[in-house]
Amino acid sequence: MTAAPANATAEVAVVGSLNLDLTARVRRHPLPGQTVPASTLTPNPGGKGANQAVAAARLGARTALIGRVGTDPHADTLLYSLRSNGVDTTRITHDGNAVTGTALVTVADSGENTITVAAGANAHLNADHVDAARSVLESAGVVSLVMEIPLDTVVAAAHAAADSARIMLNLSPVADIPTDVLALADPLIVNEHEAHEILRNHHLTAEPGVDQASALCRLGVRSAVVTLGARGAALADADLVEHVPGLPVDVVDTTGAGDAFAATLAWRLSQGDALPAAVGWAIRVSAHSVGRTGAQTSYPTLNELTEPAGRGSAPHVHRSEASQV
Ligand code: RIB
Repeated sequence: MTAAPANATAEVAVVGSLNLDLTARVRRHPLPGQTVPASTLTPNPGGKGANQAVAAARLGARTALIGRVGTDPHADTLLYSLRSNGVDTTRITHDGNAVTGTALVTVADSGENTITVAAGANAHLNADHVDAARSVLESAGVVSLVMEIPLDTVVAAAHAAADSARIMLNLSPVADIPTDVLALADPLIVNEHEAHEILRNHHLTAEPGVDQASALCRLGVRSAVVTLGARGAALADADLVEHVPGLPVDVVDTTGAGDAFAATLAWRLSQGDALPAAVGWAIRVSAHSVGRTGAQTSYPTLNELTEPAGRGSAPHVHRSEASQV
């Protein structure tokens, strides 16, 4: 086990959820009212916050997670995964009155998943817990905020880190985030459907991709990244608008690929990369992750990524088909 030293300054601090994923593998997803057989049922460490923390740590980032779990055995499973990957878990608290978050994940042969989340202890992560972790947030290069915890907690974390860290906001699922917090996002990360929903809420429309990224910047975010699945990602900030193409991959399981994307972005931005180079890395890491099962179990180490090719110093992954963030 690679134990992370407590109180070490974090390059990446994540505020978000931890879930035990119960993953059923099926040939195809059931329609409403249908029953289908599963070939396997596997417990996997998951949760969008914990996934990001593990993905960043596996790439070599000093990473801390601020979150909340129950006192049940599932909590031990999740903490073990984090600690064995070197994540600082000293700001994860235990709730004696709630069970650890649980996600029912169904993955079809196509690699596509459906996920139902029972928030459990994640719903009890509050502003006091954020305040207790203030030293970690203030020391971090990038603070990544993940939904699946109360919106008030996300807002408190954004305010706590606003003066010291670069704030990334993965607005998945879309929530009614206050304008002043949206304005701190650098970047806001959403997929094309979430971008459509946010823009529609502001009575705007834009074509999927760079148009959406530009429109999100006009809403006030400092920068925006719109993930486009197989087509890669679009990004925009005050100075540039760019499309970074996807990579060919064999899709086995898309669970947590978006979390790997966000984590990689956080890590590369904490290292001083420009946004296009960071997005190039994020596409490559998420493409790697969809080739394996599970979320945290699918994330590559830096050594598992092959030699630099193409854009900047980003690694290259050889596969066929599509990245599915
Ligand atoms: O993004 C994937 C994650 O979403 C899963 O690990 C599941 O726990 C849900 O939070």
